[in-house]
Amino acid sequence: MPDLKNFDIIIAIDGPSSSGKSTLAKDLAKKLSYRYIDSGAMYRAVTLYLLRQEVSYQETNNWDFLENEIHLDFQLDQDVNKILLNQEDVSELIRSAEVNEHVSLVAALSPVRSFLVKSQQAMGQNGGLVMDGRDIGTVVFPEAQLKIFLQASFEIRAERRFKEQLAKGMNQTMEDVKQNLQLRDFIDSNREDSPLFKATDALVLKNDDIDLEEQLNICYKWAKEKMQSLKS
Ligand code: DC
Repeated sequence: MPDLKNFDIIIAIDGPSSSGKSTLAKDLAKKLSYRYIDSGAMYRAVTLYLLRQEVSYQETNNWDFLENEIHLDFQLDQDVNKILLNQEDVSELIRSAEVNEHVSLVAALSPVRSFLVKSQQAMGQNGGLVMDGRDIGTVVFPEAQLKIFLQASFEIRAERRFKEQLAKGMNQTMEDVKQNLQLRDFIDSNREDSPLFKATDALVLKNDDIDLEEQLNICYKWAKEKMQSLKS
Protein backbone atom coordinates (compact mmCIF):
# COMPACT_ATOMS: atom_id res chain seq x y z
CA MET A 1 0.00 0.00 0.00
CA PRO A 2 1.20 3.53 -0.70
CA ASP A 3 2.66 5.61 2.09
CA LEU A 4 -0.16 8.13 2.32
CA LYS A 5 0.71 11.80 2.64
CA ASN A 6 -1.89 14.36 3.71
CA PHE A 7 -4.29 11.47 4.23
CA ASP A 8 -4.87 11.10 0.53
CA ILE A 9 -6.85 7.90 0.65
CA ILE A 10 -7.83 5.39 -2.02
CA ILE A 11 -11.55 5.09 -2.66
CA ALA A 12 -12.73 1.95 -4.44
CA ILE A 13 -16.21 1.95 -5.98
CA ASP A 14 -17.57 -1.31 -7.32
CA GLY A 15 -20.94 -2.47 -8.57
CA PRO A 16 -22.76 -3.88 -11.60
CA SER A 17 -23.14 -2.18 -15.00
CA SER A 18 -25.22 0.99 -14.99
CA SER A 19 -25.43 1.23 -11.22
CA GLY A 20 -24.09 4.78 -11.50
CA LYS A 21 -20.49 4.13 -10.45
CA SER A 22 -18.82 6.40 -13.00
CA THR A 23 -20.96 9.44 -12.22
CA LEU A 24 -20.46 8.99 -8.50
CA ALA A 25 -16.72 8.34 -8.82
CA LYS A 26 -16.22 11.36 -11.08
CA ASP A 27 -18.21 13.71 -8.83
CA LEU A 28 -16.59 12.43 -5.65
CA ALA A 29 -13.09 12.80 -7.11
CA LYS A 30 -13.88 16.35 -8.15
CA LYS A 31 -15.23 17.29 -4.73
CA LEU A 32 -12.12 15.88 -3.04
CA SER A 33 -9.69 17.16 -5.71
CA TYR A 34 -8.67 13.55 -6.29
CA ARG A 35 -7.82 11.77 -9.49
CA TYR A 36 -10.57 9.69 -11.06
CA ILE A 37 -9.78 6.44 -12.85
CA ASP A 38 -12.50 4.63 -14.78
CA SER A 39 -11.13 1.08 -14.87
CA GLY A 40 -13.97 -0.08 -17.15
CA ALA A 41 -12.68 2.37 -19.77
CA MET A 42 -9.35 0.54 -19.64
CA TYR A 43 -11.03 -2.82 -20.40
CA ARG A 44 -12.92 -1.10 -23.19
CA ALA A 45 -9.75 0.41 -24.67
CA VAL A 46 -8.03 -2.99 -24.71
CA THR A 47 -11.15 -4.45 -26.36
CA LEU A 48 -11.03 -1.73 -29.02
CA TYR A 49 -7.36 -2.49 -29.64
CA LEU A 50 -8.06 -6.23 -30.05
CA LEU A 51 -10.95 -5.59 -32.42
CA ARG A 52 -8.91 -3.20 -34.53
CA GLN A 53 -6.00 -5.62 -34.75
CA GLU A 54 -8.43 -8.43 -35.43
CA VAL A 55 -6.92 -10.51 -32.64
CA SER A 56 -9.01 -13.65 -32.13
CA TYR A 57 -8.84 -13.14 -28.40
CA GLN A 58 -10.51 -16.43 -27.44
CA GLU A 59 -7.73 -18.38 -29.14
CA THR A 60 -4.61 -16.31 -28.55
CA ASN A 61 -1.95 -17.86 -26.32
CA ASN A 62 0.77 -15.26 -26.43
CA TRP A 63 -0.26 -12.05 -24.71
CA ASP A 64 3.14 -10.34 -24.53
CA PHE A 65 1.87 -7.74 -26.98
CA LEU A 66 -0.31 -6.21 -24.24
CA GLU A 67 2.74 -4.86 -22.37
CA ASN A 68 4.63 -4.11 -25.54
CA GLU A 69 1.99 -2.46 -27.67
CA ILE A 70 -0.64 -0.92 -25.41
CA HIS A 71 -0.16 2.22 -23.41
CA LEU A 72 -3.15 3.73 -21.61
CA ASP A 73 -3.42 7.14 -20.05
CA PHE A 74 -6.10 9.39 -18.64
CA GLN A 75 -6.25 13.10 -19.31
CA LEU A 76 -8.59 15.58 -17.69
CA ASP A 77 -9.70 18.05 -20.33
CA GLN A 78 -12.16 20.76 -19.26
CA ASP A 79 -13.85 18.50 -16.75
CA VAL A 80 -14.01 15.59 -19.19
CA ASN A 81 -11.96 12.54 -18.31
CA LYS A 82 -10.43 11.30 -21.56
CA ILE A 83 -8.79 7.95 -22.11
CA LEU A 84 -5.83 7.78 -24.46
CA LEU A 85 -4.87 4.55 -26.20
CA ASN A 86 -1.30 4.99 -27.43
CA GLN A 87 -1.84 8.78 -27.34
CA GLU A 88 -5.11 8.62 -29.30
CA ASP A 89 -8.24 9.90 -27.61
CA VAL A 90 -10.62 6.91 -27.82
CA SER A 91 -13.15 8.11 -25.23
CA GLU A 92 -16.03 7.98 -27.71
CA LEU A 93 -14.93 4.92 -29.65
CA ILE A 94 -14.84 2.71 -26.56
CA ARG A 95 -18.59 3.27 -26.07
CA SER A 96 -19.56 1.77 -29.46
CA ALA A 97 -22.04 -1.12 -29.74
CA GLU A 98 -19.23 -3.36 -31.01
CA VAL A 99 -17.07 -2.73 -27.94
CA ASN A 100 -20.13 -3.16 -25.70
CA GLU A 101 -20.71 -6.56 -27.25
CA HIS A 102 -17.18 -7.88 -26.68
CA VAL A 103 -15.93 -6.13 -23.55
CA SER A 104 -17.24 -8.55 -20.92
CA LEU A 105 -15.64 -11.48 -22.73
CA VAL A 106 -12.33 -9.64 -22.99
CA ALA A 107 -12.55 -8.62 -19.33
CA ALA A 108 -12.90 -12.29 -18.39
CA LEU A 109 -9.45 -13.13 -19.81
CA SER A 110 -6.79 -13.52 -17.11
CA PRO A 111 -3.85 -12.10 -19.14
CA VAL A 112 -5.88 -8.96 -19.84
CA ARG A 113 -6.84 -8.66 -16.19
CA SER A 114 -3.32 -9.05 -14.85
CA PHE A 115 -2.01 -6.50 -17.36
CA LEU A 116 -4.63 -3.93 -16.36
CA VAL A 117 -4.60 -4.63 -12.63
CA LYS A 118 -0.86 -3.94 -12.63
CA SER A 119 -1.25 -0.60 -14.33
CA GLN A 120 -4.22 0.33 -12.09
CA GLN A 121 -2.11 -0.40 -9.01
CA ALA A 122 0.69 1.76 -10.40
CA MET A 123 -1.78 4.63 -10.89
CA GLY A 124 -2.78 4.39 -7.23
CA GLN A 125 0.75 4.45 -5.89
CA ASN A 126 0.42 7.82 -4.19
CA GLY A 127 -3.19 7.55 -3.06
CA GLY A 128 -5.54 10.47 -3.63
CA LEU A 129 -7.73 8.72 -6.15
CA VAL A 130 -11.17 7.32 -6.76
CA MET A 131 -11.31 4.24 -8.98
CA ASP A 132 -14.47 2.50 -10.09
CA GLY A 133 -14.96 -0.98 -11.53
CA ARG A 134 -15.86 -4.52 -10.53
CA ASP A 135 -12.81 -5.75 -8.60
CA ILE A 136 -11.30 -2.55 -7.22
CA GLY A 137 -12.06 -3.25 -3.55
CA THR A 138 -11.42 -6.99 -3.84
CA VAL A 139 -8.39 -7.36 -6.12
CA VAL A 140 -6.86 -4.06 -7.27
CA PHE A 141 -6.85 -2.28 -3.90
CA PRO A 142 -7.92 -4.81 -1.25
CA GLU A 143 -6.52 -2.42 1.35
CA ALA A 144 -8.32 0.68 0.06
CA GLN A 145 -9.30 2.88 3.00
CA LEU A 146 -12.84 3.36 1.71
CA LYS A 147 -14.78 0.81 -0.34
CA ILE A 148 -18.22 1.52 -1.68
CA PHE A 149 -20.46 -1.08 -3.32
CA LEU A 150 -23.13 0.58 -5.41
CA GLN A 151 -26.40 -1.20 -6.10
CA ALA A 152 -29.57 -0.46 -8.06
CA SER A 153 -32.42 -2.67 -9.20
CA PHE A 154 -32.24 -4.29 -12.65
CA GLU A 155 -35.18 -2.21 -13.95
CA ILE A 156 -33.60 1.06 -12.88
CA ARG A 157 -30.24 0.12 -14.37
CA ALA A 158 -31.87 -0.89 -17.66
CA GLU A 159 -33.76 2.40 -17.80
CA ARG A 160 -30.57 4.38 -17.18
CA ARG A 161 -28.68 2.45 -19.85
CA PHE A 162 -31.56 2.87 -22.32
CA LYS A 163 -31.65 6.65 -21.81
CA GLU A 164 -27.87 6.85 -22.18
CA GLN A 165 -27.97 4.92 -25.46
CA LEU A 166 -30.84 7.04 -26.73
CA ALA A 167 -28.95 10.25 -25.94
CA LYS A 168 -26.02 8.92 -27.94
CA GLY A 169 -28.31 8.25 -30.89
CA MET A 170 -27.83 4.49 -30.64
CA ASN A 171 -30.59 2.48 -32.15
CA GLN A 172 -31.41 -0.09 -29.46
CA THR A 173 -34.75 -1.17 -28.06
CA MET A 174 -35.37 -1.54 -24.34
CA GLU A 175 -35.41 -5.30 -24.94
CA ASP A 176 -31.91 -5.15 -26.55
CA VAL A 177 -30.63 -3.12 -23.62
CA LYS A 178 -32.07 -5.54 -21.07
CA GLN A 179 -30.63 -8.55 -22.84
CA ASN A 180 -27.18 -6.97 -23.06
CA LEU A 181 -27.29 -5.94 -19.40
CA GLN A 182 -28.39 -9.40 -18.31
CA LEU A 183 -25.61 -11.04 -20.26
CA ARG A 184 -23.01 -8.60 -18.89
CA ASP A 185 -24.22 -9.14 -15.33
CA PHE A 186 -23.93 -12.87 -15.83
CA ILE A 187 -20.42 -12.78 -17.31
CA ASP A 188 -19.10 -10.18 -14.82
CA SER A 189 -20.39 -12.13 -11.82
CA ASN A 190 -19.61 -15.66 -12.97
CA ARG A 191 -16.19 -15.44 -14.61
CA GLU A 192 -13.43 -17.42 -12.94
CA ASP A 193 -10.95 -14.58 -12.58
CA SER A 194 -12.02 -11.75 -10.23
CA PRO A 195 -15.80 -11.97 -10.53
CA LEU A 196 -17.85 -9.06 -9.30
CA PHE A 197 -18.69 -9.35 -5.63
CA LYS A 198 -18.89 -7.09 -2.63
CA ALA A 199 -15.78 -6.88 -0.46
CA THR A 200 -16.68 -7.81 3.11
CA ASP A 201 -15.60 -4.39 4.36
CA ALA A 202 -17.41 -2.38 1.63
CA LEU A 203 -20.18 0.06 2.49
CA VAL A 204 -23.30 -0.67 0.45
CA LEU A 205 -25.27 2.13 -1.15
CA LYS A 206 -28.50 1.34 -2.99
CA ASN A 207 -29.37 4.30 -5.14
CA ASP A 208 -32.81 3.48 -6.60
CA ASP A 209 -34.51 6.17 -4.57
CA ILE A 210 -31.87 8.80 -4.00
CA ASP A 211 -30.70 11.47 -6.41
CA LEU A 212 -27.14 12.15 -7.51
CA GLU A 213 -26.60 14.98 -5.05
CA GLU A 214 -27.73 12.95 -2.09
CA GLN A 215 -25.61 10.01 -3.19
CA LEU A 216 -22.58 12.26 -3.53
CA ASN A 217 -23.13 13.82 -0.11
CA ILE A 218 -23.36 10.42 1.59
CA CYS A 219 -20.11 9.23 0.00
CA TYR A 220 -18.33 12.52 0.62
CA LYS A 221 -19.25 12.23 4.29
CA TRP A 222 -17.92 8.66 4.40
CA ALA A 223 -14.66 9.82 2.81
CA LYS A 224 -14.23 12.72 5.25
CA GLU A 225 -14.99 10.46 8.22
CA LYS A 226 -12.39 7.99 7.00
CA MET A 227 -9.76 10.71 6.58
CA GLN A 228 -10.58 12.04 10.02
CA SER A 229 -10.25 8.60 11.60
CA LEU A 230 -6.81 8.19 10.03
CA LYS A 231 -5.65 11.50 11.48
CA SER A 232 -6.70 10.70 15.00
O1 DC B 1 -18.01 -0.28 -16.28
P1 DC B 1 -18.04 -0.65 -17.75
O2 DC B 1 -19.39 -1.05 -18.27
O3 DC B 1 -17.41 0.40 -18.62
O4 DC B 1 -17.11 -1.95 -17.85
C1 DC B 1 -16.89 -2.59 -19.06
C2 DC B 1 -16.65 -4.08 -18.82
O5 DC B 1 -15.40 -4.28 -18.16
C3 DC B 1 -17.70 -4.81 -18.00
O6 DC B 1 -18.04 -6.02 -18.64
C4 DC B 1 -17.04 -5.12 -16.71
C5 DC B 1 -15.58 -5.10 -17.02
N1 DC B 1 -14.79 -4.57 -15.91
C6 DC B 1 -14.13 -5.46 -15.12
O7 DC B 1 -14.23 -6.66 -15.33
N2 DC B 1 -13.34 -5.01 -14.11
C7 DC B 1 -13.23 -3.70 -13.87
N3 DC B 1 -12.45 -3.29 -12.88
C8 DC B 1 -13.93 -2.77 -14.66
C9 DC B 1 -14.71 -3.24 -15.68
